[in-house]
Amino acid sequence: MVSTCIVAVPERVSADVSAQEAAQTFVQTVGDNRDFLIASAAAFWTYRQVQEAERATAEAERATAEAKRQAEEAFKQSDEYKVQLAVAKFMEPFVPKMPKRKVIHGKVMDTIANGVKTWDEHATIVSGRFQTGKTVAVEEVFRGARGIFKHTVKDEHWEEKLYKSLQVDGPGMFETVLVRVKAELAKLADPITKTPIILLEVPRTTTKGMDTISSTSKDLSTEGGKAAHAGVLAALAFDAGGANRQKDMWIDDLTAEEAKKVLTLHGHEENAQDIIDACGSRVGDLTESRKDMVAGKTLQELKQETEAAAEREVERFLNLEVEVAGGRVIPIGRNVLTKLANSKQRGGDGAAERSAGQGIVPKM
Ligand SMILES: Nc1ncnc2c1ncn2[C@@H]1O[C@H](COP(=O)(O)OP(=O)(O)OP(=O)(O)O)[C@@H](O)[C@H]1O
Ligand SMILES: [Mg+2]
Repeated sequence: MVSTCIVAVPERVSADVSAQEAAQTFVQTVGDNRDFLIASAAAFWTYRQVQEAERATAEAERATAEAKRQAEEAFKQSDEYKVQLAVAKFMEPFVPKMPKRKVIHGKVMDTIANGVKTWDEHATIVSGRFQTGKTVAVEEVFRGARGIFKHTVKDEHWEEKLYKSLQVDGPGMFETVLVRVKAELAKLADPITKTPIILLEVPRTTTKGMDTISSTSKDLSTEGGKAAHAGVLAALAFDAGGANRQKDMWIDDLTAEEAKKVLTLHGHEENAQDIIDACGSRVGDLTESRKDMVAGKTLQELKQETEAAAEREVERFLNLEVEVAGGRVIPIGRNVLTKLANSKQRGGDGAAERSAGQGIVPKM
């Protein structure tokens, strides 16, 4: 009898069979390619090692960068960093407000420059009447120069504000900065100054703090045994310890020739003399008048305005009073003008040469 036997062969079985075959093939291959395999394993191991080394290097680099960043951060908090920054500020070339092409060179600029070059322990005071070109003249002398730091004195807190704008902590650090700036200036080929210069701009509106300008300027500009000292140049009259401690430079009206040059620069070559006759040759008046003429004002109107402004200036000076100890008020302006008038009557020059605005308050 023929019987039929159906044997079910599940797919898994055939798969197992093929896996088995594959394993055999593999063992065979391994046997055949042992050397190759060993080489591959070695290569893989080396590759892992290289990877590991690279990771370690990257980690070390990150750690170095972090340490550097932290060191830089710490340095930025240090006094040395502040000193270096302040020295760098001092050593930047000085940039005047007025562009070079608009500035007419005046003789007074040479006088100031010479004063600076032959600077000796004295504070230099550049003074003059309202709008005579003090600021422009002083700034022009220092155009492009290094070792100059300009500061505007607005009130009695000007010193702290000076330190703040230089980002130094106080007088001690400021002195260190001056010493360093001096050393930097010594390295330059032909500096206008070998001594750091603090340029104090004292606007007419400043009435407070004048006494501290005097004492600080005297202190800073006197070398006497100190490690650091600076030239102090202030664009207004003040007392830096008496005539033997300060050098005064008076900025007067422009010469006729300079006034014509200013007007020519502004396109008024033709009627320069008429304008000068009407407004005088104070540089500020000339530049203002020029603007007013553009705005349509006549020369006659300008003449009246210039006279009115001069009267106001005298009146302001006349009414200048100071309060002294005990609350007593002294009409200082009236006293000065009376004395000048009397001196003129006695044949003196009587000129109001020393009336540089409200800021001058003689020490009482
Ligand atoms: N050398 C110059 N060349 C051309 N223009 C000048 C010159 N000097 C001054 N000026 C003009 O006159 C104006 C007044 O000058 P500056 O501000 O220097 O006078 P000042 O005496 O400092 O005035 P203040 O009494 O108000 O401090 C300037 O704005 C500028 O337009
Ligand atoms: Mg000025």
